[in-house]
Amino acid sequence: MSGTGEMLEGGDPAADRRAFRRSLGMFATGVTVVTARAGDQMVGVTANSFTSVSLDPPLVLWSIDKSSTSLPIFMAGTHFAVNVLAQGQVALSNHFARTAPDKFGGVDWTPGVGGAPLISGTAAVFECRRAVEHDAGDHILMVGHVERHARFDRDVLLFHAGTYKAATAHPDAG
Ligand SMILES: Cc1cc2nc3c(=O)[nH]c(=O)nc-3n(C[C@H](O)[C@H](O)[C@H](O)COP(=O)(O)O)c2cc1C
Repeated sequence: MSGTGEMLEGGDPAADRRAFRRSLGMFATGVTVVTARAGDQMVGVTANSFTSVSLDPPLVLWSIDKSSTSLPIFMAGTHFAVNVLAQGQVALSNHFARTAPDKFGGVDWTPGVGGAPLISGTAAVFECRRAVEHDAGDHILMVGHVERHARFDRDVLLFHAGTYKAATAHPDAG
């Protein structure tokens, strides 16, 4: 264990948005690249807002910034794929976190359900039919019905406190 336990910062999110983001960043997550295809256009966005929602029916969600240039393609496609990144895919995460006209040049992928690109070398994938969207402030919650999933024997990539982390077993886990 490290850290003194003292309160570092806090208060009204509206008063200091960066501080709010840093508090949110204390929630450790995995890292995904969510992809979709509509017509001949493909998009992919690095996202750590992914979460499981329901087992029966099988539902997941992620949230996309309303200012994302990829949003119109996500809304035009019938499906999206959640690619859960492996520990060795930091460069891929950074690549899909930047706006670009075509993010798939030089990326190894295969088409999934509804044409959504499945990125090679990931730890898991969830192929989803778009179920429903919910308006949520400056983001849109995209809920997907999982039609197919897979997981692979690879270590996962984590994101915590604004930086990438590697997972190790907790000493108290037994
Ligand atoms: C670790 C990480 C997690 C991110 N999570 C999200 C997210 O959940 N939702 C989102 O809209 N953007 C998220 N972003 C930012 C998008 O990846 C980025 O704004 C987007 O790829 C920009 O390209 P676009 O114009 O195609 O949207 C995240 C970025 C990083 C590095």
